Amino acid sequence: MRGIMQRSRRNMVKTIMAGVMLAMAFTGVSLAASQGGKIATVTIPQTPTQYASEPQPLTANQCGQCHPGLFRNLRDDGGRHRFACQNCHNTFHAYNPRKGNWDAIMPKCASCHEAPHGPKITNCNACHANPHAPKKIDASAQLATACFDCHGSVRDQLVKNPSKHSKVPCMNCHTSHGAIPSCFSCHKPHVEGQALTTCIPCHPAHQPLRVTYGKDVPSRTCGSCHAKEFNAVSKDSSKHKKVACVTCHKDRHRFIPQCSGCHGKPHQKLIHEKFPQCLTCHIDVHDMPVMPSPSKK
Ligand code: HEC
Ligand code: HEC
Ligand code: HEC
Ligand code: HEC
Ligand code: HEC
Ligand code: HEC
Ligand code: HEC
Ligand code: HEC
Ligand code: HEC
Ligand code: HEC
Ligand code: HEC
Ligand code: HEC
Repeated sequence: MRGIMQRSRRNMVKTIMAGVMLAMAFTGVSLAASQGGKIATVTIPQTPTQYASEPQPLTANQCGQCHPGLFRNLRDDGGRHRFACQNCHNTFHAYNPRKGNWDAIMPKCASCHEAPHGPKITNCNACHANPHAPKKIDASAQLATACFDCHGSVRDQLVKNPSKHSKVPCMNCHTSHGAIPSCFSCHKPHVEGQALTTCIPCHPAHQPLRVTYGKDVPSRTCGSCHAKEFNAVSKDSSKHKKVACVTCHKDRHRFIPQCSGCHGKPHQKLIHEKFPQCLTCHIDVHDMPVMPSPSKK
């Protein structure tokens, strides 16, 4: 309101001045020569057409001409905040250090959002540090203590399946919100050349001791810890040499298969009754002596 009044007063003054100057030009009296008529030391051409209409609100792009950094924040990471600046800044260019009114004129999250994370999580800009890039979450102390408020299922996994990862703080691995760490930043592979993509299928990140695996794991991976069995199978002269560890020790670490799961009871009933343990004769499943057949069924 005050602005408009000031502007119209200024326009009036300008109109009067223009009239006076025009009159002086007609009578051939120069400004310098006039008696007491000199009101400025310079001559500036008038551009009244520029004042013919009301100013339009600045577009975000025009604000961005003077605030390029914030414009780029919104453009690149503004997400759903990419609307006109004035939707949030209904007051701006009004900061006055004498009044110390910064907080008063800055937009308030609460004018558009109702506690989106429940009543416990309040201090919005502790995590959403830049309202012009709202999805960029600061790795703040507040965030570190709030993981479980939003990710309860991860807590359940860690509590129900205790491992040494249960004691590693979330943010040692997730160094920024949503970042997924590489196992290799803290561990070496079991065997040279083992790909990072193999780790998680065997070790779910939050319950790494619940080791499960697929059919395609090469035997030398198991051999990195079970050298005895690996070496035995490697020099096995029986057909088991061609059978992968994971074909017998299926799906789950430490699973021990039954011979009859694959072979049934191949010999005469009497033999199986007398010697219920197949390995009494076949001795070592990983390195079977090849023997002459006692009988067929
Ligand atoms: C979603 C609401 C929102 C939008 C949209 C928005 N801002 Fe802001 N802006 C804020 C809030 C909140 C603050 C206060 C931040 C603080 O106090 O640290 C702020 C602060 C500022 C500041 C002062 C602080 C600084 O970092 O320099 C400027 C300048 C600014 N905004 C310009 C803009 C411009 C220009 C646009 C459009 C291109 C824009 N804003 C769009 C919410 C918004
Ligand atoms: C001609 C340049 C220019 C344009 C255009 C401009 N600003 Fe500013 N703005 C400034 C300057 C200079 C400051 C003071 C220094 C600073 O804080 O960067 C400022 C400060 C601000 C502030 C913080 C201080 C305050 O008093 O509010 C906000 C918020 C802001 N501008 C928002 C906007 C918005 C929104 C737009 C577009 C509607 C805009 N500005 C357009 C130059 C401009
Ligand atoms: C002028 C209203 C307004 C203000 C003020 C405002 N927001 Fe928003 N915000 C919105 C709207 C509208 C959306 C998009 C909602 C939708 O699409 O459902 C949004 C979305 C968001 C999102 C999701 C962004 C995305 O891309 O998914 C976050 C995070 C957010 N706001 C945080 C904040 C924080 C923190 C503040 C305070 C610094 C704030 N907002 C201030 C209106 C506002
Ligand atoms: C402890 C940190 C933290 C605090 C404090 C916090 N937020 Fe968030 N907020 C987040 C995280 C993390 C997300 C999820 C970001 C993602 O989707 O990648 C989020 C998402 C959002 C979203 C988007 C929700 C959606 O469904 O897309 C909005 C809106 C939002 N926050 C607003 C706020 C407001 C308003 C406050 C203050 C009352 C606030 N936040 C306080 C961490 C926080
Ligand atoms: C305010 C709620 C909130 C807080 C606090 C929060 N998160 Fe999130 N987080 C979310 C939301 C929402 C998503 C997006 C979920 C989606 O896209 O399915 C997310 C996504 C993630 C993702 C990425 C998931 C993926 O599939 O890429 C990780 C990792 C993550 N959060 C870890 C954390 C850690 C670690 C903490 C604590 C340091 C934390 N979060 C704190 C809400 C939160
Ligand atoms: C030892 C490192 C490590 C620790 C500690 C860790 N994470 Fe993760 N987290 C990961 C990895 C790796 C993934 C990706 C898993 C995948 O792709 O299957 C992940 C995925 C996630 C996801 C997205 C997928 C999901 O399971 O929902 C969320 C959310 C998450 N972590 C939250 C947390 C929280 C909260 C904590 C702390 C309680 C935490 N993480 C501790 C390594 C870790
Ligand atoms: C930020 C570092 C970090 C990252 C990333 C990490 N770990 Fe760990 N991990 C640890 C620490 C620390 C231990 C405990 C080591 C110890 O005490 O010897 C551990 C232990 C383990 C253990 C043994 C658990 C136990 O209780 O004995 C396994 C298995 C494991 N990590 C697998 C993984 C896998 C797979 C990944 C990738 C998904 C991964 N780790 C990512 C830090 C990490
Ligand atoms: C075929 C499944 C499998 C794959 C693939 C696998 N691991 Fe393991 N890992 C295991 C088994 C089994 C253990 C022993 C678990 C136990 O002690 O019960 C183990 C143990 C570990 C341990 C605990 C410390 C140790 O050496 O005894 C770490 C750390 C580990 N693995 C990291 C990794 C990483 C990193 C990768 C990806 C390069 C990976 N693992 C791939 C099966 C696998
Ligand atoms: C990182 C080392 C590691 C890797 C890799 C590993 N194991 Fe193990 N494995 C162990 C440890 C440790 C034990 C427990 C030994 C004990 O209790 O004496 C074990 C035990 C076993 C047992 C015996 C369980 C019992 O009851 O005696 C079998 C069977 C086994 N592993 C098979 C495998 C197979 C198959 C693979 C490959 C898919 C594999 N392991 C990969 C470390 C490993
Ligand atoms: C996962 C399935 C599986 C399990 C479990 C299994 N085997 Fe085998 N076995 C095989 C296969 C496959 C062959 C090769 C068959 C062929 O090529 O004709 C084989 C061959 C044999 C042979 C013949 C060897 C030769 O060179 O002619 C004997 C003997 C044998 N198994 C004994 C056993 C005994 C004893 C057990 C238990 C300790 C056992 N197997 C467990 C799959 C299995
Ligand atoms: C043909 C099926 C078969 C294959 C192939 C096989 N195993 Fe086994 N493994 C068994 C059976 C059956 C037992 C139980 C033996 C017993 O009861 O003494 C066993 C026992 C084990 C044990 C427990 C300790 C022991 O020696 O008794 C480990 C460890 C093991 N196997 C690792 C491996 C590894 C590593 C490989 C691959 C290099 C492998 N196995 C290949 C069937 C197999
Ligand atoms: C009394 C000793 C003895 C017992 C007990 C025994 N076997 Fe055998 N088995 C042999 C002999 C000897 C051969 C012939 C050697 C060969 O062909 O390599 C043989 C051959 C086999 C063959 C390969 C030849 C064929 O028939 O296809 C399989 C498979 C086999 N046995 C499985 C088993 C299983 C499974 C058990 C336990 C349920 C078992 N055996 C118990 C002595 C025994």
